[in-house]
Amino acid sequence: MSVILVIEDEEKYRRVIGLHLSSSGFQVKAVATAEEGLKNAADVDLVLTDLKLPGMDGLAFLEQLRAQNMNTPVIVMSAFGTVEIAVDAMKKGAVDFLPKPFSLDHLTVVVEKALEVRKLRDENRELREALNQRYQFENIIGRSAAMQEIFGTVTRIAPTRATVLLCGESGVGKDVIARAIHHHSPRKDKPFVKINCTAIPENLMESELFGYEKGAFTGANTSKAGKFETANAGTVFLDEIGDVPGSIQVKLLRILQDREFERLGSNRTLHTDVRIIAATNVDLRAALEQGTFREDLYYRLNVVPLNIPPLRERKEDIPYLVEHFARKFGGVLSEAAIDRLVAYHWPGNVRELENVVERSILLAPGPRVEAEDVRIDTGQRARPAAAADNFLPEGITLDQYEQSLIREALKRADGNKSQAARLLGLTRNALRYRLAQMGIE
Ligand SMILES: Nc1ncnc2c1ncn2[C@@H]1O[C@H](COP(=O)(O)OP(=O)(O)O)[C@@H](O)[C@H]1O
Ligand SMILES: [Mg+2]
Repeated sequence: MSVILVIEDEEKYRRVIGLHLSSSGFQVKAVATAEEGLKNAADVDLVLTDLKLPGMDGLAFLEQLRAQNMNTPVIVMSAFGTVEIAVDAMKKGAVDFLPKPFSLDHLTVVVEKALEVRKLRDENRELREALNQRYQFENIIGRSAAMQEIFGTVTRIAPTRATVLLCGESGVGKDVIARAIHHHSPRKDKPFVKINCTAIPENLMESELFGYEKGAFTGANTSKAGKFETANAGTVFLDEIGDVPGSIQVKLLRILQDREFERLGSNRTLHTDVRIIAATNVDLRAALEQGTFREDLYYRLNVVPLNIPPLRERKEDIPYLVEHFARKFGGVLSEAAIDRLVAYHWPGNVRELENVVERSILLAPGPRVEAEDVRIDTGQRARPAAAADNFLPEGITLDQYEQSLIREALKRADGNKSQAARLLGLTRNALRYRLAQMGIE
């Protein structure tokens, strides 16, 4: 039996609500103040609280509850005139509000809906946690077929010394996959050396990669080992391989073929036992055609090609990634907020998604990130979908503009209020309230 905590200072209301709910089959705890409510909040399935209370008010109660890590759904009741505060309460994590006076039938509907949502959400979380185990490889999340296939390939080839070529846009996860391959190989306790080929100026690249002997050039006062030497027995990750100049390409080819090289200023041939993983965000085949990338090197690198699709082509991964990042940054996102993230096209891929989730959690005013708290791109709060590309037209008041947006959203949603509310970034009740103010229904 679901337990409902009712916080209402007016005795008559408290009695009527209590009686109605118990006769509807709920177990009721009814108290007159928020302070008492807090004492009784443990093991409660739902809280129904008045907004205006003597002492601590309903809003403060809600905040206290969340501060004590209780995510019990809360419905706020409020008399006319405090509806805007009730909307605020919903932003702070209340699930619904009941404008007073309300009918007992309406009360039942709202209570049952809130309990249903809670049940679904709990089931959802359990399901998602179970799924996460399967759709996770180390800390890499992927439930899409493409990612599942990549996990399979990584598992198979990681223990070998096979050269891997990772292709994909910036932010798709090339780095994390390269590291995962290393960690699943017998080389895992040996060095993983990343070389960012764009970051090193061409004239320094040879000495960085292969080392130099004392006196090899002015300023070379001592000898120094290069990256391929220090990575011996481990893995070298060549990032942005497409940017490697031709003179170095020849030397890489020799490493790949014979694992041999010479330090700059020396003609003693050295041997290194490295596994090579390369990554590129440009199509190397285009570079082959233009003659800027050696064909023989390309084939040596392309032993195990792994193409990581952009995030917009595997949107089914987004809810799982969001769950993962939300846990990482200690926040929670509403279903509507997740829907917004799924709808976006993510030019910056997973890196951008991670940043947006972090920023949204940091800046959300309430305990949960709601759809309107999602901060994509510039750090600006999202505007309602219908307004996204419009400026305020001239000769129109803000009220009129709001009304036209609401009408537009209703039209787009075919009159479905829940859907229209979602388009506008409002809760259904907030929309209902605005419609009443406009004199619609
Ligand atoms: N599938 C994934 N699961 C979890 N985090 C990911 C995933 N893909 C990328 N990331 C995260 O996104 C960010 C960018 O990934 P990264 O590997 O650096 O991308 P790339 O090297 O392709 O530019 C990193 O913080 C990484 O941890
Ligand atoms: Mg990278």
